[in-house]
Amino acid sequence: KKDGPSLDLHRILANDCHSNWLELPRQRRLHPTMMEVEENEVEMASTTLICDTQPWKDLKAHVEDIKKTHLRDLMNDKERCESMMVEFDGMFLDYSRQCATLDTMAKLYKLAEAASLKQQINRMYSGEHINSTENRSVLHVALRAPRDAVINSDGKNVVPDVWNVLDKIRDFSEKVRSGSWVGATGKPLKDVIAIGIGGSFLGPLFVHTALQTDPEAVEFAKGRQLRFLANVDPIDVARSIAGLNPETALVVVVSKTFTTAETMLNARTIREWISSALGPSAVAKHMVAVSTNLTLVEKFGIDPNNAFAFWDWVGGRYSVCSAVGVLPLSLQYGFSIVEKFLKGASSIDDHFRSAPFEKNIPVLLGLLSVWNVSFLGYPARAILPYSQALEKFAPHIQQVSMESNGKGVSIDGVPLPYEAGEIDFGEPGTNGQHSFYQLIHQGRVIPCDFIGIVKSQQPVYLKGEVVSNHDELMSNFFAQPDALAYGKTAEQLLKENVSQHLIPHKTFSGNRPSLSLLLPSLGAYNIGQLLASYEHRVAVEGFVWGINSFDQWGVELGKSLATQVRKQLHASRTKSEPVEGFNFSTTKLLTRYLQ
Ligand code: F6P
Repeated sequence: KKDGPSLDLHRILANDCHSNWLELPRQRRLHPTMMEVEENEVEMASTTLICDTQPWKDLKAHVEDIKKTHLRDLMNDKERCESMMVEFDGMFLDYSRQCATLDTMAKLYKLAEAASLKQQINRMYSGEHINSTENRSVLHVALRAPRDAVINSDGKNVVPDVWNVLDKIRDFSEKVRSGSWVGATGKPLKDVIAIGIGGSFLGPLFVHTALQTDPEAVEFAKGRQLRFLANVDPIDVARSIAGLNPETALVVVVSKTFTTAETMLNARTIREWISSALGPSAVAKHMVAVSTNLTLVEKFGIDPNNAFAFWDWVGGRYSVCSAVGVLPLSLQYGFSIVEKFLKGASSIDDHFRSAPFEKNIPVLLGLLSVWNVSFLGYPARAILPYSQALEKFAPHIQQVSMESNGKGVSIDGVPLPYEAGEIDFGEPGTNGQHSFYQLIHQGRVIPCDFIGIVKSQQPVYLKGEVVSNHDELMSNFFAQPDALAYGKTAEQLLKENVSQHLIPHKTFSGNRPSLSLLLPSLGAYNIGQLLASYEHRVAVEGFVWGINSFDQWGVELGKSLATQVRKQLHASRTKSEPVEGFNFSTTKLLTRYLQ
């Protein structure tokens, strides 16, 4: 590049000894950590990075125009605001508080065209192997497709397989719930422990937490409980079984691979809990599994008839609509509630595939994220549901977004000269307001997603109060975005007779972007809509950034180093072998731990 390598390249070059990296032939310009790969083994498609396209350059230049604007003024333009409001199937998105004009949006649509966004979405729905590093289709949309839909992967319609498993879950969960499937001592199984981690945990936990207070779902869950066991920390084991009787417990081991170290150890621990209380044969009645690896399920000792399959075209973090979520949730709430959840997600799937970009909620969300991250330079996003029932939404989206888009190379292995991915975090309002909002209002600029619900799941109207409890909550939902957008000027403070020395402390710069998403209620259907909107938003970002949003190689290195440590701990504990083969720091730490 004429103006020298970008910051990113500086970082790579500074951190690595491959300072002649730019001089290498293009097909060898992989990330320096991959340089041991033989030249003739490296096959690279010739890639045009999105940052080399004219729409990207136009947006870069446009940032200067936007810097001259302030949301205080932009919000006065009624026509602009009206064009920045979109409604679909009861969901209402208002993105008028983004630091963007209609010109910005037009430029973002051009960027989407340059990234072949429409074609990429179509490739996903038609089962192409867009997860190229794992040579897999990406078809979580098939998990919630209607029974008569046709969605092909490798020339085969996968929808009948999906419905075979759904029907099997319906039958099994009805048997358990009605008490016709009983435990080893003849007692009905009313407590479910779902063992799994990452995508085999966070999505189901989010949906369960949201349904837990939904009046319709509550009715169906009477007398039952659903618990999760994710962390390999023995404390989590203790918590998951505290107060439970193995005689009434059903354990669902959820693991796509059935090899994840934490899940398998937890599964062995809970198997021991069951068999020591009820005898080894009780496992057949008390343990079932969800996996793509049915061979390992059987090897573990779970009856293959009690295994619920899914497929390698479902990414772990996109698997909540497969048996991963559907089985535990159906056991707790009944299949009919879960079916509504699937229908809500399916409604957004259709919308995402067919709506024009200007009216397409996931596309708009995705393009705005790219705008905030790659052009305005805001690397984080706060997910702020004004609903306690959505308290596990941000942790789930954290995985969906950060595991999907936290990548350093393009889909063809070219180091990205721009940052991709964003840092997601969040808490329900109003709790978050009393925690980290100070930073959002006067410290760093963090684009916020405000998610509000029109009708509360559990309304309270206290006599003598000015507004209902839900109105009180929503007063904050409506106020916060304006506080961020408008801020408060020194002139305003002067008029309020604020002492001079406090003015800098009490000034709010404003011009802080947010978007507001309003859902009519939080039933199973709406939860499905919300989930699918965010899943597709992440895909849009990845498609535009030109990365593979569907692999997760970045989690492997830590796992393999843990294997080496595990071996060492075993050798030291059983044969008193000294700590060997680690760097000075890790050796010291391990030795101290062992002592
Ligand atoms: O954290 C890495 C990961 O592979 C996730 O992608 C996945 O959701 C999780 O581990 C659990 O994997 P599995 O379902 O195979 O146990």
